[in-house]
Amino acid sequence: MKALDGIKVLDFTHVQSGPTCTQLLAWFGADVIKVERPGVGDATRQQLVDVPGADSLYFTMLNHNKRSIELNSKNETGKAVLTRLIEECDVLVENFAPGALDRMGFSWERIQEINPRIIMASIKGFGPGKYQDCKVYENVAQCAGGSASTTGFLDGPPLVTGAQIGDSGTGLHLCLGIVTALFQREKSGRGQKVSAAMQDAVLNLARVKMRDQQRLAAGPLKEYSQFGEGIPFTDATPRAGNDSGGGQPGRILKCKGWETDPNAYTYFIIQAAVWEKVCDLIGEPDWKTADGYKSPPERLDKLNQIFERIEEWTMTKTKFEVMDVCNPLDIPVGPILSMKEIAEDDGLYATGTMVKVDHPERGEYLSVGCPIKLSDSPVEVERSPLLGEHTAEILSQVLGYSDDEIQDIVASGAVGELKAAAE
Ligand code: COA
Repeated sequence: MKALDGIKVLDFTHVQSGPTCTQLLAWFGADVIKVERPGVGDATRQQLVDVPGADSLYFTMLNHNKRSIELNSKNETGKAVLTRLIEECDVLVENFAPGALDRMGFSWERIQEINPRIIMASIKGFGPGKYQDCKVYENVAQCAGGSASTTGFLDGPPLVTGAQIGDSGTGLHLCLGIVTALFQREKSGRGQKVSAAMQDAVLNLARVKMRDQQRLAAGPLKEYSQFGEGIPFTDATPRAGNDSGGGQPGRILKCKGWETDPNAYTYFIIQAAVWEKVCDLIGEPDWKTADGYKSPPERLDKLNQIFERIEEWTMTKTKFEVMDVCNPLDIPVGPILSMKEIAEDDGLYATGTMVKVDHPERGEYLSVGCPIKLSDSPVEVERSPLLGEHTAEILSQVLGYSDDEIQDIVASGAVGELKAAAE
């Protein structure tokens, strides 16, 4: 048995943010029914194509363990089928542009009328307010959520980050809202609307930078290297390069081979509790007791000098040797791992964090598995569905249409041609 066994999800999501959420629900055991436009499907099926004729990795890596039904929600018969799906499902998840669902004739009020127990979960770029009607993609959210203004180096432009905090980050937030609403429904018997705006999710993940924004009123941010460099602060949280910016100073430092390997680096944290061990390790035992070095506040104006000295040591070791030496001493360090190194890490396959999946069109591919592990609800990653692969079985098994009714639905143009399920 899986945690969400028996929960049916009408998955009206596309691109990345919504699919991330419904993929997690599917991994936790929900029956996720992805509704896609006949003949077209989720736009990502045909984006960033690497194997001609096959669904892209963009699609396959975000839509595991789901079923696909082709359904034209603007066709009258299609609307009737969608209404039946809303009646049958516990959750509807969507991330259309603002107003798209209303234009189809499925406002939240109408959806509640059809099924008062349904939880309707939506992702939009912005919450209510002046930007509520905007279409939004990942990097717009990173910028509007405060992340970009605080990422990068002080003397460079704002930077977006490779981690998809706007899309996948919002999908995670929405997923938590959905399971919380399912939990409340156990007691209230009612569904509810769950909303997560991408700007809000990014801001939530950038919460510590809002902390620093307020700390600025009390003076310069001494944990930022700009303080030691004597560069004045402005009235907004600055970009802090690779400074940790938190209570324990940290940096990315070069390791052996950095001249040719762009990822021969380690993160190195000079946690107060292990300062003495760091001093011994790098050959500066005097720093343990010297004025200006012995306590964390004294060191804050010398972070550049201290990290340069530590880097002289890390450059004599590979990033893995740094880890091997520092871990037993409890000095927190982390190698900069490339995606190639991660893809080759057997340990991650052993835990299911990385998986190999077989696909009828593209053969075997690698994917990131479920990052959340439930001891009583293990995840088995199954390939993503082909477009409309499950139309027939959803119409008959989930919605109870007879063969004749299904023929009529096909004839109306509401669904694509029925396909036999692929191996
Ligand atoms: N049958 C018929 N029509 C369908 C359909 C179906 N099964 N599924 C979708 N459509 C229609 C929609 O009703 C909409 O029509 P309308 O504009 O006439 O109302 C149309 O397809 C396009 O939907 P839209 O959401 O506007 O897609 P888009 O490609 O123009 O925009 C986004 C994409 C992501 C920018 C937009 O959906 C958005 O802002 N979403 C919210 C924020 C978000 O999740 N962004 C991150 C995505 S990773």
